[in-house]
Amino acid sequence: MTWKTLIAATAAVVLALPAAAQTREFRLGLITPPAHVWNQEVAALNATLQERSGGRMSIVAFPSGQLGNEATMLQQMQTGALDMAWLTTAELTFRVPDMAALHAPFLVTNIADAARVFRSDVAREMLDALPRATGTVGLCYAMIGMRQMVMRNPIASAAELSGQRIRITPAPAISRFFEMFGAAPAPMPLPAIYDALANGQVDGLDMDYESIINFRYYEHAPYLLETNHHMFGMVALVSARVWAGLSAEDRALITDAMQLHCDRTVDRFVDEEQGKLDRLREAPGIRI
Ligand code: BEZ
Repeated sequence: MTWKTLIAATAAVVLALPAAAQTREFRLGLITPPAHVWNQEVAALNATLQERSGGRMSIVAFPSGQLGNEATMLQQMQTGALDMAWLTTAELTFRVPDMAALHAPFLVTNIADAARVFRSDVAREMLDALPRATGTVGLCYAMIGMRQMVMRNPIASAAELSGQRIRITPAPAISRFFEMFGAAPAPMPLPAIYDALANGQVDGLDMDYESIINFRYYEHAPYLLETNHHMFGMVALVSARVWAGLSAEDRALITDAMQLHCDRTVDRFVDEEQGKLDRLREAPGIRI
């Protein structure tokens, strides 16, 4: 056999491999830092996917908004430049306005009920709008903890929010909530917050316990208001273009693995919420 025929024969064998046998490394973007529960579960998702696919499929994570903010990651998935992302429901409300219902103030007052809402059929049906509205497929919901507030200065009543500049996750529904109190909402992506707080550009934050601990926001905003004023979801997304190129078997494998780690994320937030508040009570300088 000549070299030419050997190369041709090898190429023919490789091309003839079924789609299910091809190896694939998926790029997954997140806005959260490596220590965050989401990132820990994405690392675990990578291990699950590798194990269940016999090493054919894996995930490489891009944390802390390395690929851009959530709006940018959504655009990248639309073109197929990014394979997957774990994005906030807040970001998705720009494209799927119905999802703003999940951010309705005081829709639930505790994290266990928030978990029930994210696992409901009503929430699940909202994911059906994603392919047309965003060019992505929503595989499952997870969440972060209930939203609280941390302030630079003490606040004795809701009326005192008037005129205060409050950092929010960019989303019209969250903006409207703070405007109702006469506050000035300041939409800002997660990685930009610490410096804005340290420089005095904002008076307070709309935030969850996990992030308050991870980013030590209490160093500049020590007054924690335990408000539980809204729940905050995440959707595990896959680019619809990428999804269309996968075999039915691989889609099923990814769907199941993703669901497992969405569920674990939700369970962890429910189980760990009280412990996080207890830890914050011990944080230096904090006032609750
Ligand atoms: C935020 O924008 O506040 C946020 C986003 C993702 C995870 C946690 C917090």
